[in-house]
Amino acid sequence: MLDNADLAKQARALDASDPIASVCDQFERPEGWVFFDPNSIGPTPKTAGAAAANLVDEWATLRRRGWAERDWIHMPARLGDLIAPMIGAGPGEVLVCDNTTVNLYKAIGHALEINHDRSVLLTQADNFPTDLHVLQGFVHSSDRSLTIRYVETEDDAIAALDDTVALTSFSHVEYKSGARWDMERIGKAARSAGALALWDVSHAAGAVPVDARGSGADYIVGCGYKYLSMGPGGPAFIYVRPDLVNRAWPPICGWMGHADTFSLPKTYVPRDGIVRFLAGTPMVGANSLAQCAAEIFNRYGPDDLWARHQSLSEFFILAVETLCGPLGVEVTSPRDYQRRGGHVSIKAPGSGRVVQALIDAKVVSSFRKPDSIRFGISPLALTHVDICDSVTRLRDILEKQTWKDPKYANVSV
Ligand SMILES: Cc1ncc(COP(=O)(O)O)c(C=O)c1O
Repeated sequence: MLDNADLAKQARALDASDPIASVCDQFERPEGWVFFDPNSIGPTPKTAGAAAANLVDEWATLRRRGWAERDWIHMPARLGDLIAPMIGAGPGEVLVCDNTTVNLYKAIGHALEINHDRSVLLTQADNFPTDLHVLQGFVHSSDRSLTIRYVETEDDAIAALDDTVALTSFSHVEYKSGARWDMERIGKAARSAGALALWDVSHAAGAVPVDARGSGADYIVGCGYKYLSMGPGGPAFIYVRPDLVNRAWPPICGWMGHADTFSLPKTYVPRDGIVRFLAGTPMVGANSLAQCAAEIFNRYGPDDLWARHQSLSEFFILAVETLCGPLGVEVTSPRDYQRRGGHVSIKAPGSGRVVQALIDAKVVSSFRKPDSIRFGISPLALTHVDICDSVTRLRDILEKQTWKDPKYANVSV
């Protein structure tokens, strides 16, 4: 039976043999704190402060020349190229722009125009609320009669596919449980039923493998501010299958997606390729911060980062089960790594209060009702030793029952 000392030894050995341990040096790691929240907001690149200061300086000195001299105008495509390998896409196939909700809207509207003779939208009953709301918005406002079919499992999804389904819209990783859906399996089934497949990979991109090209995905969207560390409220991304993208207009036709933006034409003509999904002026401030982490992702490459995430999250589960299992903690995310996303969810006695007590112990996780504690595992800024230390702090809270203190009654979600 492993004990705390064995785990600590194992953690040190895993860190020592980590081929890309240096990636942690690229990020701020406030003394004593351990953050398990990249599923909400990723770690801060050390270059972010200088990037922000530089932008303010260029704003003051370059003014409108910044659009050309710093190429602010093409940042969405440039950032898209930097992160494309993290979702298995190629250059010129991804844009970093807007937020996930807006990009969902763009993808769904495009798909509905292509599959204009079909009326069913298929989604997870427990999909993230904004994903559901955007679909419901289309049902509400469309003048054709659309319906949403809600499914619980992959098998249900495949069984529900027929020649009425226009689009499947699923989260690759469920935001509560952390369960990862099989993009390839659903993608193939959707293709053979003539449906288009949209994936929200917010809880996967930057943590676990996403294979845009190999999975048969038609559309992929996701948040940049989570594992991709693009900053608070940072931009999202969108991928559309290259041979599909020119088959319809985007539902938001804006001047940045026009074939000839700066001749200021009155009549809309979409550009070819993913750039037609640009709507308005790029958000240079957010993009400047986003670039800091995008460059790091591009430097380290996906395979090493995914392997690092796997090692850290397997070790997290081992530590939780060893130290906290006897105290009533249960890992609720799937055990098979291929079926898990960026975070590991657990259940503990007094889950919500435990999350509050952990903050006092300088460990930041997140609570989702009714009883789920999510530990987002960043492949960028966490070490195995951090994990061992934090799980030890969790064990102490459970063992001493400090979570029962009335000061932890006010649980934030
Ligand atoms: C799966 C998923 N999609 C979308 C969002 C949020 O989208 P937006 O960036 O538009 O707020 C979240 C937020 O946590 C999410 O978990």
